[in-house]
Amino acid sequence: MEQYKLFIDGEFVDAASGETFESIDPGSGMPIAQVAKAGAADAEAAIDAARRAFDSGIWSGLTPAQRADKLNAFADQITQQTLRMAITESMDSGQIIGLAKYWGMLGSQMLRNFGHYAATRFPWQEEIPYAGNVFAPGRDYIRREPIGVCVGIIPWNFPMSMAFWKIGQAIAMGNTIVLKPASSTPLGALIIAEAAKAAGIPKGVVNVIAGPGGDIGHTLCTHPSVDKIAFTGSTEVGRQIMKMAADTVKKVTLELGGKSANIICEDADIDLAVEGALFGTFFHQGQVCESGTRVLVASKIYDEFLDKMKGRAEQLRVGYQLDPASQQGPLVNATQLATVERYVRLGQEEGAQVVAGGRRAEVAGLDGGFYYKPTIFGGVKNSMRVAQEEIFGPVVCVIKYDGEEEAVALANDSIYGLAGGVFSRSNARAERIARQIKTGTMWVNNYHSFGDFCPFGGYKQSGVGRELGHAGLAEYTQIKRMHFPASADHKSNFTMKLFSDDPKVPFVQYITPTLVLAGHGSLSSIYREVVRLGSRRAMILTDAGVRKAGLIEPVQEALAEFYAGIFDDISQDTDLATVDAAVALAREKGIDIIVSVGGGSVIDTGKAVCVTLKNGGKADDHVALMRLSEPQIPHIVIPTTSGTGSEVTNVAVIKSGSAGRKVYIIDNYITPNTAILDPQFTLTLPPGLTVTTALDAMTHAVESLTSTMSNPICDGHALQAIRLIRQNLPTAVADGRDEQARGNLQIAATTAGWAFNIAQVGLAHAMAHTLGMLCNVPHGAACGIVLPAVMRYNVDHATDKLALAAQALGVSIGALAPRDAAMAAADAVEQLMKACGHPMRLKEVGVTEEALAMAPFHAIADAAALFNARPVSDPNEIAELYKQVF
Ligand SMILES: NC(=O)c1ccc[n+]([C@@H]2O[C@H](COP(=O)([O-])OP(=O)(O)OC[C@H]3O[C@@H](n4cnc5c(N)ncnc54)[C@H](O)[C@@H]3O)[C@@H](O)[C@H]2O)c1
Repeated sequence: MEQYKLFIDGEFVDAASGETFESIDPGSGMPIAQVAKAGAADAEAAIDAARRAFDSGIWSGLTPAQRADKLNAFADQITQQTLRMAITESMDSGQIIGLAKYWGMLGSQMLRNFGHYAATRFPWQEEIPYAGNVFAPGRDYIRREPIGVCVGIIPWNFPMSMAFWKIGQAIAMGNTIVLKPASSTPLGALIIAEAAKAAGIPKGVVNVIAGPGGDIGHTLCTHPSVDKIAFTGSTEVGRQIMKMAADTVKKVTLELGGKSANIICEDADIDLAVEGALFGTFFHQGQVCESGTRVLVASKIYDEFLDKMKGRAEQLRVGYQLDPASQQGPLVNATQLATVERYVRLGQEEGAQVVAGGRRAEVAGLDGGFYYKPTIFGGVKNSMRVAQEEIFGPVVCVIKYDGEEEAVALANDSIYGLAGGVFSRSNARAERIARQIKTGTMWVNNYHSFGDFCPFGGYKQSGVGRELGHAGLAEYTQIKRMHFPASADHKSNFTMKLFSDDPKVPFVQYITPTLVLAGHGSLSSIYREVVRLGSRRAMILTDAGVRKAGLIEPVQEALAEFYAGIFDDISQDTDLATVDAAVALAREKGIDIIVSVGGGSVIDTGKAVCVTLKNGGKADDHVALMRLSEPQIPHIVIPTTSGTGSEVTNVAVIKSGSAGRKVYIIDNYITPNTAILDPQFTLTLPPGLTVTTALDAMTHAVESLTSTMSNPICDGHALQAIRLIRQNLPTAVADGRDEQARGNLQIAATTAGWAFNIAQVGLAHAMAHTLGMLCNVPHGAACGIVLPAVMRYNVDHATDKLALAAQALGVSIGALAPRDAAMAAADAVEQLMKACGHPMRLKEVGVTEEALAMAPFHAIADAAALFNARPVSDPNEIAELYKQVF
């Protein structure tokens, strides 16, 4: 008789106890091999070896490509053993030789496939383009690493196949493994271990120990050195394994039992369906977890189907597994035979009718074999135990149903969900049914078809996790997120700031993707810009006021044949519905570039249109911060007011009806490609709007200068913007046609835009957004009215910065104490506003006292308040500010 030993740490060894057991040929009942019987000590030795091998890096430290080379060598050794493997597997497990002969070929292919996938396709490292956290700029990526020491525990039905699955996946992904085959069928895995050794897989990487699960299972599932357990077997044992693994919180994947439904529709090709049901059930004597053991048949064809299936079942040839003529071999052992007999008796007691089989099969000269006839139960109710419990033998329940809905309900009425089938001539119908079944695999007009890259696993009590394919291989890895902050400086760290009394964030990031063309006649560059951006069909976005001011015709003319449409229905403080309407028109006209001509409302609409046009769907789908990963539809902007700065910022601010407030799209990819600052476009801006929009730019400049995020690049832009507004606004108000003043105000708006793109804004914006939302106050006017009050509120938190602002506003601060100099900045803004006719009180712009009741709460919750120099948290303080300017 052949002798098999345990394979531990690269050597074939006897069990520590010296004990052995016999492996039986189930076709004859005769022993065929003597096998070393592992106990707890051997399990520990194998785990220790696997741990040492893993930790040494001899395998886990190789590149996936280096491991793939070794797996190819392993596969070659398997190929050399194909004949021996076929005969041994057949004799050991009872598989007919017609099936067992394939394992050498399939196993070697699997090793090659897993190695190759791991080396060439598996995403071991993946950049995360945007972390989804605006407060954590930097680099983030995912690294996948081997999990460690894996334990594979496998059943007796497909000993070699299961050993290839567990060993192949574990080692392709860089792990080490201790494999425990079933004690009824230990030989296949030990032959695979021989091949691993011959192929030079380093010692300790693969270990195989045979023995009773009851004895060594406990050690394997509780040992602290084991990181993962991959178990295939019964649901009952799976539950125990999960419990045992719980104490050391091992990763566990379980492939458990099933009672899968094979649904035969009334339009099925009946001969195909009969063969599918037959193969789906009696393949390997029904000792297959994913078998379709509940055949659900449409009532219209039930009788004909049952009749045909009975005929075919009775034709199946039961015989010795090595006889090439056999289609059914023996069951694996006497215990399994007894289980099948018990269930067949039970089914009869429950009222099911034995249509075929129902008793042992005799095979001449092999009285000791465990043979049973393919057995069909008709008239089965799904509630019967034979239809609910896994029998794991050649017994099928045929159940009648009326209508698809009942078929789906019956299929899902099970604690299991491993697999299933649908037979129908209509793929659409089959798919409709298959999608409704709660199960891990559905075959249409087929059964038992596997692929190395097709995931396998269970819903419900059929298991946890998946095997095979990407999903299966990923189960053998850990995910590590790697993060590097954009600057390694605790003061730039937003999160650590929570523990700091100094809210200043000196983080510097300066992105200016916008090409700015400024000056008289700069509109003439627009044609060249469209060409440069690779576009041909431009749509102008604007609003009625801008159109009425006669600013659109020159743009149309300059665009010449690129002009392809116009959308002008944009109200002040635009909303998502407006964006959707503009997108609809752009889609209709095949637009590939947007030209926004107007103030912030138009430009922000344009940004959202570019995103929606590029990515599809509705504007609301794209309300997100830092989510885009590629350039959007090109966008040229021509600002026509004295200042939102939107032409160079990465923000679009848009009202959302459903959110009841303004929402933001913030992303570097929405920053416009080109800004044309042609003063001709602002000459028509009435004095009122000239002032309020300029005060929007002023607010950007002051708030970014004083924000917790300000830095020297921002400060330079902000101070220059403040200076330009102070110097040019009175002139532009007095003489709207003064081109130089107009041009300087445009440059101020753009410069202030850059400043707040770097450093964000603050409380004045939070309060202004709220006024826009609750009382429809135009954004610029609201900003201006609250700005001086907010500057005074911040005076002790941004004293130096406000003093610099005072200087830029023309105040001579030399003789002033710092705090007085800072206060002087607020006074100077107020004077400028008064001199230019800006509204000074909220009641002047239609705000009522009642409307202000909720305003402080909204303002505190507005994101802009986060960056204010002085922390904003007390609604009473904010209410007081609103009162001051009411
Ligand atoms: N994305 C950003 O970076 C950013 C920055 C600040 C503000 N905003 C947003 O911008 C919007 C406010 O923009 P806005 O203040 O520019 O106002 P706006 O775009 O709403 O325009 C105001 C009015 O001015 C008229 N107008 C514009 N130019 C004209 C001209 N040359 N001649 C005659 N009339 C003209 C328009 O027809 C409109 O009626 C707000 O929704 C605000 O939230 C966005």
